[in-house]
Amino acid sequence: MMRYEVTQDLMTGNALIDSEHRQLFAAVNDLMDACAQGRGRDQIDKMVKFLNDYVVKHFSDEEGLQTRSNYPGYPAHKTFHDGYRRQLGDKMDLLRREGPTVKALGELNQIVGVLVSHIRTEDKRVARHIMEQSK
Ligand SMILES: [Fe+2]
Repeated sequence: MMRYEVTQDLMTGNALIDSEHRQLFAAVNDLMDACAQGRGRDQIDKMVKFLNDYVVKHFSDEEGLQTRSNYPGYPAHKTFHDGYRRQLGDKMDLLRREGPTVKALGELNQIVGVLVSHIRTEDKRVARHIMEQSK
């Protein structure tokens, strides 16, 4: 099965952001493994909750970095985060409701893919801005 990994092209160069992305991918991989292994509802629910909570924490840390460094792209980035939190919540509800169906897992993969593209472009911009600021 495919595993999410913070490959070189996804590294932003900001230590906090990169380590949180690693944790986040690990949480996604754990959840997918649990689904593939047919783990019980209790365990899957626990992992879903962890992933949701971790995304909330990570986004708020990233938002803090942006506001503290007067990042000009903050409003757009925040809008993306708000929409994403909501969409992820919907996908997680679907997964809990349906169990690990092809549809639920497909939607989970799709939403993680959106985050991967966001990291590759927007999060790198944030990290670059912070680096420039601290010069
Ligand atoms: Fe972000």
